[in-house]
Amino acid sequence: MPHDPSPASGVGGTPTRAESGGDAPRRTPFDWIDEQAQARRRSGLVRTLRPRPAESTLLDLASNDYLGLSRHPEVTAAAAAAARRWGAGATGSRLVTGSTELHAELESELAAFCGFEAALVLSSGYAANLAAVTALTDRGSLIVSDAGNHASLIDGCRLSRAGTAVVPHADPDAVAKCLDGFGGRALVVTDSVFSVDGDAAPLPDLAAACRAHGAALLVDDAHGLGVLGDGGRGALHAAGLAGAPDMVATVTLSKSLGSQGGAVLGPSQVIDHLVNTARTFIFDTGLAPAAVGGALASLRLLAREPERAVRARTVAATLHRELSAAGLSAVRPDAAVVSVRAPSPEAAVRWAADCRSAGLVVGCFRPPSVPDGISRLRLTARADLTARQVDGALRTLIATAPPV
Ligand SMILES: Cc1ncc(COP(=O)(O)O)c(C=O)c1O
Repeated sequence: MPHDPSPASGVGGTPTRAESGGDAPRRTPFDWIDEQAQARRRSGLVRTLRPRPAESTLLDLASNDYLGLSRHPEVTAAAAAAARRWGAGATGSRLVTGSTELHAELESELAAFCGFEAALVLSSGYAANLAAVTALTDRGSLIVSDAGNHASLIDGCRLSRAGTAVVPHADPDAVAKCLDGFGGRALVVTDSVFSVDGDAAPLPDLAAACRAHGAALLVDDAHGLGVLGDGGRGALHAAGLAGAPDMVATVTLSKSLGSQGGAVLGPSQVIDHLVNTARTFIFDTGLAPAAVGGALASLRLLAREPERAVRARTVAATLHRELSAAGLSAVRPDAAVVSVRAPSPEAAVRWAADCRSAGLVVGCFRPPSVPDGISRLRLTARADLTARQVDGALRTLIATAPPV
């Protein structure tokens, strides 16, 4: 039907019921948002923000501050000093005015610490994943992606326009099958430690499958940096794969390093290519100097105090052991994330709320955020928790647990 340019009868006023075509009169083009919000309310899936106060008496087992560095005096002083010296913002994109000497220092120290040739800092781990996936693939490429991967890797696959095969979780044979017979440019992408259950990817077997097929491996080490490997050098370092010419890692500066931002680590050839082609690097303002300074201070602290990484893993193992001994269904942690299953979404929400009332903050995952449909509490084992705090957290978790 040709477009009728004459003004509609209801112009300037509310359309009539007949004009809107539905039962209820349409008031704005955003009415559908209210309908979606109502559906969320009906399913009990409304998300709300809960601004936290600067000081709190609650014990935090929900944040990603794995090493307790976000408020470390050296880290906050370095962040403040960087803001004073370089300004509150980076002032431009990295290729224009947004690269400071501090960015370059962080990049070279981060690459050296994790055992890679080069690093590139971006404004978040999310942007780092989008940059790495899109810059390393094109329309004709094949991406093989683990079904449990983080949303930022998934979005990278979508943005790349490459063909993407989603393989069952932590299954190197399935990866190899997908790569069989594909002669083009292939990239296998996986989290090193999966955010929901805290389990680790089988990196040596994935690397072997990639090498047998000439594919590159991209590992999102958001939950591995600072926790896994010698002194927290990350999952690829732990697997003896860091610095190899076919390995690329992404990290966030917002978890173990207690700051903000992200980075891609890999061969100089790859990093130079990202500088020239990665859109989330080129068309984004550089990371704020305070975040760069804070991350650099954390990195230096971690290099000086490698026991922080060991302590985070020990706390995770203690939480798992004691919760299992109490009959709860906890997944054996490979890093600092401990996942404990709940019998239903309602039970998980109630359990988390009861913990909060008792002074303990825990994460609560339920469908649709968990693709397997299993609701769970997600606990993070911080290196700076005292034995007393760990005991207290365990007592609360066990006393408030739903019947199994
Ligand atoms: C596995 C994983 N990758 C990437 C990210 C994104 O990192 P950032 O928060 O720095 O954007 C996160 C964190 O939320 C994550 O858990």
